[in-house]
Amino acid sequence: MTSLDSLRTPSLSALTIDSVQRAEESPEAMIQLHGVVKRFSNAAGVFTVLKGIDLTINRGEFVSIVGKSGSGKSTLLNMITGIDHPTEGQVVVNGADIYTGVSESQRSKWRGRNLGIVFQFFQLLPMLTLLENVMLPMDYVDMYDFDERPNRAMDLLKLVGLEKFANKLPVLVSTGQQQLAAIARAMACDPPLLVADEPTGNLDSRSADTIIQLFELFVSQGKTIAMVTHDPSLTSRTHRNIILSDGELIDETVSRSLPQLRHRHMMEFTRLAKEQIYQPHETILSRNDPVNHFFMIRDGEVEILLLQDDKHEFVFSRLRPGEFFGEVELLRGGSSIASVRAAEKPVKVLSLPRADFLRVIQESPITAEAIDKVIQKRLNGNTPHATRNL
Ligand SMILES: Nc1ncnc2c1ncn2[C@@H]1O[C@H](COP(=O)(O)OP(=O)(O)OP(=O)(O)O)[C@@H](O)[C@H]1O
Ligand SMILES: [Mg+2]
Repeated sequence: MTSLDSLRTPSLSALTIDSVQRAEESPEAMIQLHGVVKRFSNAAGVFTVLKGIDLTINRGEFVSIVGKSGSGKSTLLNMITGIDHPTEGQVVVNGADIYTGVSESQRSKWRGRNLGIVFQFFQLLPMLTLLENVMLPMDYVDMYDFDERPNRAMDLLKLVGLEKFANKLPVLVSTGQQQLAAIARAMACDPPLLVADEPTGNLDSRSADTIIQLFELFVSQGKTIAMVTHDPSLTSRTHRNIILSDGELIDETVSRSLPQLRHRHMMEFTRLAKEQIYQPHETILSRNDPVNHFFMIRDGEVEILLLQDDKHEFVFSRLRPGEFFGEVELLRGGSSIASVRAAEKPVKVLSLPRADFLRVIQESPITAEAIDKVIQKRLNGNTPHATRNL
């Protein structure tokens, strides 16, 4: 594979956004959704598919989006790409507010320059060769010199390993190869953002792996990727996993801490959890205190302190984002034998009231089992983060 850098044209590295409005800058953010609501009306009435989505995806992030069929994943992507428009709320992509004061045709040109889009069914034009398909976006937004376009398209086909098939029609190559050509087409104008809706949904696992490797290459070169997928083997390879449940986002700290929970339980915890911030070295739980909450770490690290010889406290271990504490006491009873405090930096934790935690865990045996494994490890002291009696 050739490097994407070699395909870059210096004059176009600073992408223009045409007449699309510049939004207030948050330089690290590639995608920002603020209070996005989407309603559809049909004969049966009004149906709210997205119920107020707030989401930021930063530049260079590789994010997977999952959720049950009908949860609103494709609708969410359509808000980001500008293919559809929100009923309420604001969408800022690559610094541009894409819905305020922008016509459909302006948005379409903006999309051509700023986004690559890949769908489950590749949507290559059947009467054009692979090379011509890859050249199409460059023609549409008039990027790159006319004479340069075939070479650039060929370089992109090389990048995805299809140079030998450049002059074939889509029907003459495999479905995996068609999807690779669709990815080459999506990258034709060197967009900073790639949006993919189940890009491997129609492929065997080997072709799916080739595609994810290609996405990993793009991300290593600074691209941002938002990808809807049903495949757990792919979500594990992304930086972040976002879960949609019935048009709402599940708190990522909840899903990361308790991945075995059903989505409806994760949503319940999302609604019930309270965020608290502790300053460096501030105590969160004291030894001998009753434990009334389950704590999940959102940001920063905590130190677990045990007592040595009934006298001196020492730092037994540290817990990081995605880890939790308080569960031993909640599930087995008793006061806290360890103290827990923020480490050197401020810590954000999510806390859940005892009764809610116990009720949901009772309804989710698979989560109870997973938590029990963590407890066993901690009680046996055989992990780097193990804590006795915490
Ligand atoms: N144009 C539309 N008009 C009316 N309802 C729609 C429209 N588009 C989507 N919906 C409805 O919105 C809901 C969410 O659809 P969406 O396609 O976003 O789900 P999804 O999470 O992508 O599902 P899947 O995994 O099956 O692709 C569905 O109930 C769907 O029927
Ligand atoms: Mg969908």
